[in-house]
Amino acid sequence: TTPRRSLIIANWKLNGGIDLMCNSIASLVGKEFDTDIAVCPPYIYIRDMLSLLHHSEVKIGSQNVSKFESGAYTGETSAEMLKKVGCSLCLIGHSERRQMFRENNISCNIKVKNALTHGLIPVLCIGENLEEKDAGITKDIIFRQLDEGLNAIDTTTGELCVAYEPIWAIGTGKSAVPDEAQSVHKFIRECITEKFGNDFAQRTRILYGGSVSRENACELLDKADIDGLLVGGASLDPAHFLQICTQC
Ligand code: G3P
Repeated sequence: TTPRRSLIIANWKLNGGIDLMCNSIASLVGKEFDTDIAVCPPYIYIRDMLSLLHHSEVKIGSQNVSKFESGAYTGETSAEMLKKVGCSLCLIGHSERRQMFRENNISCNIKVKNALTHGLIPVLCIGENLEEKDAGITKDIIFRQLDEGLNAIDTTTGELCVAYEPIWAIGTGKSAVPDEAQSVHKFIRECITEKFGNDFAQRTRILYGGSVSRENACELLDKADIDGLLVGGASLDPAHFLQICTQC
């Protein structure tokens, strides 16, 4: 009885090339899906993918977005540029960006607002590391990432997605067990309800990421508060990704 349509996103990270682009397009175009599907390739492939995917239901997203609008910010790409080129969504605050590129809840908050302003769906990535999990403070970490990352956003227009990616599950082959993920997703929805009300919380899609594969995808998607998947490694194999998108 949930009004939320599942969303499955491929995050290629800094991987792939023309071959992966062509093979993924070939495997995704002309198909009908029961879920929303999106691919986040490196920036350089976005425009080509958009034109090759023309007439397809598959959406394109970016893996990051600038917190700046325009100006002397070498190497940056703005939300407005991404939207104008045809992107539908952008990942924000992936743990790799938080760990290696000094992103924090404050910069994520600016990026979420920029995305919403320009009509891109922000996919705010959150999650605890192993040390935090072992210390039993997962919920405190999640609460803070949401509270600061979503501070004062405009919920009247646009759509928000949250991706729960426990850092210990990323690229490790060690996915969270579905029940464990579900309980964190439920908590995330409660935090959003408390902050923005039930309506918005029910509309917000909460995705799971971290060692998703064709083996665990359906069981994860079956859970009441898991509204989609953010797929890393397995999305680099077009046949594997297609299976994840179609099998459940
Ligand atoms: O954004 C997806 C990601 O971080 C998960 O990566 O390789 O564990 O599916 P992977």
